[in-house]
Amino acid sequence: MASIIARAPGKVNRILRVGAPTDDGYHPLVTVFEAVSLYEYVHVEEMPGNVDDVVTVCYLNQSEDPEATHIAAAIHDVDHLAMRALRALRPPSTPAVRITVHKSIPTAGGMAGGSADAAATLVAVNALWDLGLGSDELQQIGRPLGADVPACIAGGVTLGVGRGDVLESIDDNVDHHWVLAFSYQGLSTPAVFAQFDRLNLARDLPRKHDIDLQYLTNDLAAAALSLRPELEEVGNAALEAGAQQWIVSGSGPTIAALVSDEATAGRVRATWELMPNVRGTCSVRGPVIGAEVCEKLPLWARRCA
Ligand code: C5P
Repeated sequence: MASIIARAPGKVNRILRVGAPTDDGYHPLVTVFEAVSLYEYVHVEEMPGNVDDVVTVCYLNQSEDPEATHIAAAIHDVDHLAMRALRALRPPSTPAVRITVHKSIPTAGGMAGGSADAAATLVAVNALWDLGLGSDELQQIGRPLGADVPACIAGGVTLGVGRGDVLESIDDNVDHHWVLAFSYQGLSTPAVFAQFDRLNLARDLPRKHDIDLQYLTNDLAAAALSLRPELEEVGNAALEAGAQQWIVSGSGPTIAALVSDEATAGRVRATWELMPNVRGTCSVRGPVIGAEVCEKLPLWARRCA
């Protein structure tokens, strides 16, 4: 029976400006996404029978992460974003499938892990059943699944307005080294937006021509840091180890530091690895291209398949 593998990158918001919530409860954003080389791999396989299922295997630095895998197993199949993406795209009378998500982007980490699961599944299902949809159409279908799904499909550097889901690409010729610090506990995106409202942090949104791409900015940082004050120390430790800038990634709690080269990345990681609030670290590059079909799973994921 047919099967296909696709992957989608996570993201860091280099700029995240947030306005006051509108009547639907969502906050208008002006944001600059950069897709980074930390990927969710999704394997979609046709199966006999008529029941779909989804299995998630989590990894930290290319080794299986049993604790995170155990937590991910608690997500009910019907709520899993990969399964919701399958339902959004599946034509009538297609066989049942098993979806295996090989997950390296931390859950509730502020890096669009769930949206990347949906993005990779949309790309895989489109290819599996030859649906012939282009990137714009997949972004349109993915938008209601999560505000970051279009950015994970598009990849590169994109400007997002609306909920962050109305995109245009930005021609930003950069090659960034990022270092990421993962936390022991995730942060819920709605909880961080609610804290943002409680602290009255909304500001007027900039026009897109007024955005300065040189400096990392995150309006959600104060809300995330008020819920997790210890993260400030993590960011500042990166500066002491030679990073140029740091930022809370999206709604956090992942901390992303920009460094000039691999050697500095190594120093920042070594510093972070000694900190009690850091569960793990990783070095990534950005920007990278968006969700795509892959010939096979990487070796480290095949070992656990
Ligand atoms: O779209 P997504 O499922 O990622 O959003 C999760 C939650 O984050 C929303 O239910 C909402 O509470 C909050 N959110 C928001 N404004 C946005 C994006 C997300 O308030 N632009």
